[in-house]
Amino acid sequence: MKKLQHKSATSRRSRSRSTKRPVALITGASAGIGVELARAFARHGHELVLVARRKRRLAALAAEIEATGCVTPLILALDLARADAVATISKALASHGLEPQYIVNNAGFGLLGPAVALDRAEQLEMIDLNVRALTELSLTFVDSLRRHRGGILNVASVASFLPSPGMAVYYATKAYVLFFSEALHRELKPQGVRVTALCPGPVETEFQARAGIRAGAIPHFLARSAGRVADEGYRGLMAGRRLVVPGKLNKVVTLLPRILPRALVLKLTESRQAGRR
Ligand SMILES: NC(=O)c1ccc[n+]([C@@H]2O[C@H](COP(=O)([O-])OP(=O)(O)OC[C@H]3O[C@@H](n4cnc5c(N)ncnc54)[C@H](OP(=O)(O)O)[C@@H]3O)[C@@H](O)[C@H]2O)c1
Repeated sequence: MKKLQHKSATSRRSRSRSTKRPVALITGASAGIGVELARAFARHGHELVLVARRKRRLAALAAEIEATGCVTPLILALDLARADAVATISKALASHGLEPQYIVNNAGFGLLGPAVALDRAEQLEMIDLNVRALTELSLTFVDSLRRHRGGILNVASVASFLPSPGMAVYYATKAYVLFFSEALHRELKPQGVRVTALCPGPVETEFQARAGIRAGAIPHFLARSAGRVADEGYRGLMAGRRLVVPGKLNKVVTLLPRILPRALVLKLTESRQAGRR
């Protein structure tokens, strides 16, 4: 099975008229959902480029993937919130003779608390990472995605469907990711490029500690493992789906804002965030 998958990745490569090797570039691959996305792409025979700030974590994952018989992933330890991050990635790919077939925009973080009380610089950094870097990475490599008939997997959230007092900027960044990805799906489909928005509900990762959410505040009936979320995202992207919401109950949550009055949605999300402090 694995050999077959490697073979199909190779034949896709020879169909494209480029001397560069096609790769799946995955951001936020040092923890949580990103690690599982990297494992899923590796299992399916894709050569990888792993991006995040923590180099040691990336190196450990690259070694683990190499030990399974896959090509050693290239690791790029950099801060995606920096304005020059995507230019640095482009240069590194070119110097290694690589170009993206798939882009997985997974790196992201949230912050819990009233927007006016939270650190403003940190919230703007969140926009730089969750929105600006994701947008730049989605648009920069479209020629190469087209050549390799690949795609973009953007990690949004169930939060994309809701406004939320107490996590206002994070939820708004994820609404942007969903709307941008859905529109891009439509724009790029005729060109043979898939774009999928992956909208997980709660997943136990380092996300909660980084956001300031207290341990144990995840509603377990909605939670899913990072591995399952990554597998569903991978399958959805390969199938050319516009939207993937893992889990039936999470799908129901995404429908609530269409049914309930906006004022009630705001009240519900506000009290949920208050209970997570
Ligand atoms: N966990 C959930 O409940 C949940 C639910 C829905 C959606 N999501 C979304 O899923 C995605 C992954 O989150 P997760 O739960 O896996 O969180 P996580 O465990 O905290 O992982 C976040 C990843 O993003 C990377 N990252 C953060 N800031 C970065 C920066 N400035 N530059 C480069 N990389 C950076 C981190 O690596 P370094 O720290 O090494 O840089 C890490 O690899 C996020 O977009 C999140 O919004 C999460």
